[in-house]
Amino acid sequence: MTKVSPSMLSSDFSRFGEELVRVEKAGADWAHLDVMDGMFVPNITFGAPVIKAIRRFSDIPFDAHLMIEDPIRYVDDFADAGCDLITVHCEASGDIRGAMDRIRDRGLRVGVSLNPETPVKSIMPFLDGADLALVMTVHPGFGGQSFISDCVPKISAIREWADAKNPSLEISVDGGINSDTGRKCVEAGASVLVAGSSLFRLADMAPTIAEWKGYGPTLG
Ligand code: DX5
Ligand code: ZN
Repeated sequence: MTKVSPSMLSSDFSRFGEELVRVEKAGADWAHLDVMDGMFVPNITFGAPVIKAIRRFSDIPFDAHLMIEDPIRYVDDFADAGCDLITVHCEASGDIRGAMDRIRDRGLRVGVSLNPETPVKSIMPFLDGADLALVMTVHPGFGGQSFISDCVPKISAIREWADAKNPSLEISVDGGINSDTGRKCVEAGASVLVAGSSLFRLADMAPTIAEWKGYGPTLG
């Protein structure tokens, strides 16, 4: 089954805890938390203290997406805040391999992400030590952008690598995901769909999450 990780970036921040409960009740597998530092991306969102504050509202796994420079500096803070999976960008400054090792040492699952303009070969050296590859299908920083279909071949390339070398690797896609683009990504090999605006604009996101969970890879 495909996993669905709604991006809380599109939720109502004035009711952040309740929005988390809404996502959990709708059947989401994980909650995707977009952390931005105003340096790696031209936007600032929230950090570990806010994540810690909403942790008590739900037991749903927290899928933190760190769009920050030199992420090793903050791994312990996000681990202490209650994140279950932490993804760092391969383009970020600092010791990315060290950040991944630190996430693992804290007993969490490790993700590594790449931006739309980054060639897929740049992420490959990091995949051996990863539980998840996060393929960005928009330029990171903002919700509500259009899906960049040129990124789809990267999903297939990572899936091909994973089938041979690391079959349990989750491949997540993030940016412009809706029923149409999500299905294409799953057919290309994605196993996790991250979506903000297309889910949060719905009064009831449960039927859409259920539909997406039923997407499967193209056989044969
Ligand atoms: C963008 C974030 C995404 C974003 C997706 O930088 O990483 O998770 O919330 O939003 P949509 O689904 O609206 O493109
Ligand atoms: Zn994200």
